[in-house]
Amino acid sequence: MSPVPRHLLPETSAERADGSLEIGGVSTLDLAAQYGTPLFVYDEQHLRSRCREAVTSFGADRVVYATKAFLCRAMARLVHEEGLMLDVATSGELFVALSAGVPASRCVLHGNNKSLDELRFAITSGVHHINVDSFDELDRLDTLHREGLPVPRVALRITPGVEAHTHEYIATGQDDSKFGFNLANGDAARAVSRADRSPSVELMGLHCHIGSNVFAVSSFARAAEVMAAFAAPYDLPELTLGGGLGVAYVEGEQAPSISEWATVLLDACRSLGVRSAITVEPGRSIVANAAVTLYSVGTIKDIPGVRSYLSVDGGMSDNPRPVLYGSGYEAFLPRAWGADRVRAVRVVGKHCESGDILINDAMVPADTAVGDVLAMPVTGAYGYSMSSNYNMVGKPAVVFVRDGKSRLVLRRQTHEDLVALDID
Ligand code: LLP
Repeated sequence: MSPVPRHLLPETSAERADGSLEIGGVSTLDLAAQYGTPLFVYDEQHLRSRCREAVTSFGADRVVYATKAFLCRAMARLVHEEGLMLDVATSGELFVALSAGVPASRCVLHGNNKSLDELRFAITSGVHHINVDSFDELDRLDTLHREGLPVPRVALRITPGVEAHTHEYIATGQDDSKFGFNLANGDAARAVSRADRSPSVELMGLHCHIGSNVFAVSSFARAAEVMAAFAAPYDLPELTLGGGLGVAYVEGEQAPSISEWATVLLDACRSLGVRSAITVEPGRSIVANAAVTLYSVGTIKDIPGVRSYLSVDGGMSDNPRPVLYGSGYEAFLPRAWGADRVRAVRVVGKHCESGDILINDAMVPADTAVGDVLAMPVTGAYGYSMSSNYNMVGKPAVVFVRDGKSRLVLRRQTHEDLVALDID
C-alpha cells in the first residue's frame, strides 16, 4: 500500500530532509519526545483556514462552530477570533466557551433535554439564542418567564423526515428520532404557532440537522428543500441547516469541501426563494483533518497464520469512534511518512478488552518496530471530545503547532487528576 494520502493530513504537513513529518514547521518526532504520547497535534493554520473558508462561503455571522467536535479554551478563542459563533450543546460547553472569554452573545444553546438550570444559565448569561427541541422545553421557558427572566430569542429544531446516508447512531433527520419537532405529524407546525403566540420567547428562526459525516450533498439539498417549503409561510429572519458535512478518513474517500457544501446549500435556498438568512453549524469539517494523534508502539505480537497485533499506548479512551461506529482510520510512521505500507497489522489499544481496536486492518511500513511513534490522521473531531478515563488511563495532552512553534493547550492528565473527585 502506498504512503498515507496527502489530503488526509493537516494542511502544513511537510517532509523534512530526513524523510520525517513536520506539521506547522515542527517535527512530529520532537513533539512526541517533548510532550510524550499519546498526543493530539493540531495544525493551527489548518483550523484557521477551515474557519475562513466557512466564513467566506456562508458570510460573517452565518457560521456557528459545533463545539462538541473539539472544545477547549484555546479552540473557543480561535474560532471566536475567526468570526464564528459557537454552538454549545450543554451548560458545560457554554461554561468552557465563556471561561475562554467568548461573549455569551456569540453562543447558541442546543440540546434535546436541557434542564431548567441549563436554560436559566444560558438566559442569564445572555446567549444569542436557544434552539428549542421539545414542547417540554417550551414549558420550561414559560416557567423561567414567570420567574422574571428576560425573554430569550429562540429557533425551533424541526425534524424534516430526511434520511441522511450515514451511520444510524449519527443520523438525526429521520422521523424516528429523539431530536426536534416532527414535521410530518404536525408537531412542527403546532410548535411554531405556540412559540409565535408565546410571551416567554421571541421566535427568530427554524433549525434542522440531518446527521453527521454525510457525504452526499444531495441529502443537504433535500433537507433545504423540505425546510424551505415548511418555513415559507412564517417568513422568519433565520434558517439554520445544521452541520454534518463528512470528511475523508481513509484512502479512497473524498468528501465535498466546505465551499462546495455552501454552493449546494445556498443555490438550493436561492432557487427555492428562501428569504431568511442561512446559517450552518459545522463541527467535523472544521477540525477533523486538522489533527493527528501520535502514539508509541509498545508491543507487536505475531500469531502466525492468524494476524499481528500492534499495541499502542492509548486506544478506545482517546478514540472511541472505531468501537462505536466501526469507523476506519489510517496509520503511518512519522519518521518515514513517505514509506510504502506493506505489513498488515491490527492496531489495538492498552485497555482491558478485546474490543479495544483502533484500526482493524492497518497497513504499516515493513520495519515498524516497538518504540516507534505511530501516527493516526484525521483524529481532530470527536476524539478528544469523547475521550474517557476507562481503566484510569489519563487523557492525552493536546498541542497546537504553528510557524515552527508548539504550545500545549491541554496538559496530559496525571495520576493525581484521577483521584481529584474522590471525597475520601
Ligand atoms: N449541529 C447539531 C445540532 C448537531 O447535533 C451536530 C452534531 C452538529 C451541528 C455538528 O455536526 P458535524 O458538522 O460535526 O457533523 N460523535 C459522532 C458525531 C456526533 C454528531 C452529533 N451532532 C462521531 O464521532 O462521528
